[in-house]
Amino acid sequence: MEYGYFDAKAQEYVITRPDTPAPWANYLGSPAYGAIISNNAGGYSFVKSGAAGRLIRYRFNEQDRPGRYIYLRDDESGDYWSASWQPVGKDLDKYRSTCRHGTGYTIMEAEYTGLRSEASYYVPMDTAHEVWRLKLTNTGAAARKISVFGFVEFTCESFYEQDQVNLQYTQFITRTYFKDQFILQTINENCLNAVNESRVETRFFGLAGVPVTSYCGDRAAFLGGYRDYGNPISIEKGRLDGTLNYNLNPCGALHTALTLKPGESVSLVFLLGQKREAEAKALITRYEDSGLPDKEINDLKTYWHGKLANLKVETPDENFNHMVNTWNAYQCFITFNWSRAASLIYCGQRNGYGYRDTVQDIQGIIHLDPEMALEKLKFMISGQVSHGGALPLVKYDHNPGHEDRPEDVSHRKGTGHPSYRADDALWLFPTVWKYITETGNTALLDEEIPYADTGTDTLYKHLLKAIDFSLNHLGIHGLPAGLHADWNDCLRLGANGVSVFVAFQLYYAFEIVIRCARHKGDAATETRMNELKKKFGAIIEERCWNTDRFVRGITEHDQVVGKPDDPEASLWLNPQSWAIISGFAPQERGNAIMDLVHQQLNTKYGARLMAPSYRRHAFDGALALLFNPSTKENGAIFLQTQGWLILAEALLGRGGRAFEYYLESCPAAQNPIAETRLLEPYVYSQFTESVDSPFEGRSHVHWLTGTASTVMVGCVEGILGLRPDINGLRLSPAVPSSWKNFTMEKIFRGKKLRIQVKNPQGCESGCRKLTVNGVEVKDNYIPASTLKADNEIILEM
Ligand code: GLC
Repeated sequence: MEYGYFDAKAQEYVITRPDTPAPWANYLGSPAYGAIISNNAGGYSFVKSGAAGRLIRYRFNEQDRPGRYIYLRDDESGDYWSASWQPVGKDLDKYRSTCRHGTGYTIMEAEYTGLRSEASYYVPMDTAHEVWRLKLTNTGAAARKISVFGFVEFTCESFYEQDQVNLQYTQFITRTYFKDQFILQTINENCLNAVNESRVETRFFGLAGVPVTSYCGDRAAFLGGYRDYGNPISIEKGRLDGTLNYNLNPCGALHTALTLKPGESVSLVFLLGQKREAEAKALITRYEDSGLPDKEINDLKTYWHGKLANLKVETPDENFNHMVNTWNAYQCFITFNWSRAASLIYCGQRNGYGYRDTVQDIQGIIHLDPEMALEKLKFMISGQVSHGGALPLVKYDHNPGHEDRPEDVSHRKGTGHPSYRADDALWLFPTVWKYITETGNTALLDEEIPYADTGTDTLYKHLLKAIDFSLNHLGIHGLPAGLHADWNDCLRLGANGVSVFVAFQLYYAFEIVIRCARHKGDAATETRMNELKKKFGAIIEERCWNTDRFVRGITEHDQVVGKPDDPEASLWLNPQSWAIISGFAPQERGNAIMDLVHQQLNTKYGARLMAPSYRRHAFDGALALLFNPSTKENGAIFLQTQGWLILAEALLGRGGRAFEYYLESCPAAQNPIAETRLLEPYVYSQFTESVDSPFEGRSHVHWLTGTASTVMVGCVEGILGLRPDINGLRLSPAVPSSWKNFTMEKIFRGKKLRIQVKNPQGCESGCRKLTVNGVEVKDNYIPASTLKADNEIILEM
């Protein structure tokens, strides 16, 4: 069943049935002020950090409650409902609604008993407050007396965990006041000089555009005993009783009573933020201008649509277009901003950027906003320790040059991260390469960037140090040690056990350095890297290949993981796809291992991470055993890995296979099976339960996942074949043979490319002829130096 559709023109997903199988969410705001909102207005807001700056409550793993509620009440009949279907939850035969999730805003429209409401939720550009604008229209023939109530449940304290568990403290530190047009909440208000770690904080919930008829600042008084958000006593009575909180739980609730003639509309605004009293007052005054919200929503559209327009594709597959043009791209920006911090699953406690996660997330936006990517890339490079390893977690308040290291007890205490991961710093290679080749900015290689602990080096030397780190941490057979884990958090191969995935990452790193060294004229490094590549290539060949596949790892007791005769986990996806991505496996072998993957790992929702799942034969250190079979790392369809699979097939030129995998796991393509998938059809999730599960196809952990960037790269570099290098752009699409024509518009190094791909013979890859501005060029390569401001490019496959 479908619960909504894609509106490509508006770049919105429109939910037409509010009873979605899970809360379908959107993100509002920026790193200064973030907000998550579901299609039923559930969710929460935070200043900078979901863990340390939480403003409003959300009960995880419950019924998507509470949220940003606007209640409406007919003051003649006493009937009441909400501007979002929940929390009141009227009968869907009488209550009609749509929810439009857009780029940085969400709009809920509802019709009930002759009243039309439109609630728009957003965080204006470059601000740290949120706006809920309500337009209400009487569509009936008689005048109506209506009450409107806005309600928000504040946290007692900004630290999420404290607010949830340390009730003997947090319930006694806050109070609310009524200040004409707003409720003001204070925390630790006696500590005017900020004693110890206590900070005096104030939040507000205000109303602009109409007068306040009644108010309440105390949750218990608002809800009433043994009631819920769906039937608060104060809404039932039609009046807020003026109770302000002193201890226990604060809230902001404001009421206005209106009369609407037939056809008459009213517009009003609720505002929320962490502001001082005077700032709150000034903001409310600003929003007396009823034209402001439309302008601010337009600014958001201009900002986001502008960014997303840097790559626009028009292919025969609508789902692909929806994802690449809007939703996958937008999700990449969201993971870029919020890492794994705050969603309806992550409660915000990870107070920093996971190294591997963020360095990979950056890849997802390089083609759309390379400058934004660069800033974060430099920040992450400054999270590399001077011996070349990377901090597993780079804190939001990271202080380059002064951080302690995983070797230090203080670091372990502060972050909970005990030691280095084998892969973290190696993610820099593909990310740096993508940035440099997208922009042509090779000067970056010579830019000085500090280390996390001490000293600075050029970016080029940072890369060499990352290689040193791997070379200084070799395990048995001279392969890279598994350390605490590699990309797979559940693999404890150990200090002497070795990771084949990391071996391929290192092999790829040698190649990237070779290209950079060649560009810099650093012959000594080029030679050394070539030798290392040869040397490690030989070890990989000897130790990592078994019969017809690459194995996953070797434990320190020399137990090989992922052999054909292993009773469980005998075939792993990542070492096969990375054998190709790293450039190690040439075409024929690549085809063979990918065919094996298709045979043994593919399912209707994508390829499994490994199979069979662990049950009885896991090696010591296979933490995947903790999960049920076909779940997460224990043989689910781990969606991030689909991106690498798509890329690998595309690099082999097998467009049909690449696209088959793409569609199997594409959220938009799963729009018609929302009850199976559960999660939003417009964003990727972390994994999908697979064949061993009674709920095959059910997906989990929405929005904040490496899937977004990895699949994006699989689409852009893989399927669309946009493969820049230092001097230009190679065009190597790998598409299904049914794609006879498609177009791409791309901004490349400040220049516009209008690319038309013609495929009359139904090829899956390859180039017959390429013309740039009417001139035929050699093979499928466009030297950057030949580009004008605006370019007409035609590729015949
Ligand atoms: C999760 C983690 C990521 C890890 C992956 C595989 O997505 O965020 O860091 O690589 O799981 O274990």
